[in-house]
Amino acid sequence: MFMKIAVLPGDGVGPEVTRQGVKVLHAVAERYGLAVELREALIGGCAYEAHGHPLPAETLTLAREADAILFGAEGGFQYETLPRGLRPGDALLTLRRELDLFANFRPVVTWPELADATTLKPEVVEGVDLTILRELTSDLYFGEPRGIDVLADGSRRGVNTMSYTEAEIRRIAHAGFRAARARRGKLCSVDKANVLETMELWREIVTEVGSEYPDVQLSHLYVDAAAMMLVRAPKTFDVIVTANLFGDILSDEASMLVGSIGMLPSASLNASGKGLFEPVHGCAPDIAGKDIANPLATILSVAMMLRLSFGHESAAATVEGAVRKTLAEGYRTFDIAAPGEAAIGTEEMGDRVLRAFSVGS
Ligand code: IPM
Ligand code: MG
Repeated sequence: MFMKIAVLPGDGVGPEVTRQGVKVLHAVAERYGLAVELREALIGGCAYEAHGHPLPAETLTLAREADAILFGAEGGFQYETLPRGLRPGDALLTLRRELDLFANFRPVVTWPELADATTLKPEVVEGVDLTILRELTSDLYFGEPRGIDVLADGSRRGVNTMSYTEAEIRRIAHAGFRAARARRGKLCSVDKANVLETMELWREIVTEVGSEYPDVQLSHLYVDAAAMMLVRAPKTFDVIVTANLFGDILSDEASMLVGSIGMLPSASLNASGKGLFEPVHGCAPDIAGKDIANPLATILSVAMMLRLSFGHESAAATVEGAVRKTLAEGYRTFDIAAPGEAAIGTEEMGDRVLRAFSVGS
């Protein structure tokens, strides 16, 4: 199998965690005799500094031509006052939109090895295995009109528009039902249909699509109730399908079930299955360059890439098994270490994972 992968490390901790992901990817490719071609490009603040734009044309072309994209993180305090369109976050949003990566899978699986890392009670989080499917190319993130305008009295008003077309809802709903069918057969659609017309339409379309999946048990929750249920009884969830902004918020919340956002991988797929794989955490400028960031979310994103873009289940399982073994051996980066427990660095965590699977898992 030939795997053409665009590597976009980006800013902050992006480059250091991506380096570990690439290391693991090379090793797993060698083990399974897979040919990989990796091409790296700048994205985000570093691209702005080098080329005056966070998403240079050559980066977009590279991403378009690749079978899959491994993305690190983008952003940094110094870019927050740039005009919109030139901020690092805009590059990621443009990439998602340009490649039509509408289906964002954020699996949330607790690791028994990390039972101490969560702030929640062990009996609540033990055995959690859910997936948040976040719509990624519409909603308030992209709706028009948007902007900050000046009212007649001279004061300003901020405007963003929540909007979903039937077609956009239908395709994410289908992705949700298919995902649920491949798992435990439960889909919970999260909306705010009691207040917002956009979400009323969401609920109507999801329900309609549901008639094509009689084997999937569909339920609906308002987003406020879903936020509560996620910490109260997270094991009741299998697949959650939700809108862009709600999914953004709920996935950060859900990361605390696992103990650290540094453990959460993600996959953003388009209709033909092409994907962008990235850790759910951001650029974390406060810890960047210190070799302390947790690379496991990126390494687990590589596993998702092997599974979802290249259909290589055993290679994916090998990577995940190596992560499990490394955690079972007691290795921790600072974000998942218990108070007083020794932590290892980013690079060493990458090396430990490599060692775990070369020693056979
Ligand atoms: C995420 C991030 C992004 C988002 C930011 C960096 C634009 O928070 O992927 O969850 O809001 O989608
Ligand atoms: Mg987010």
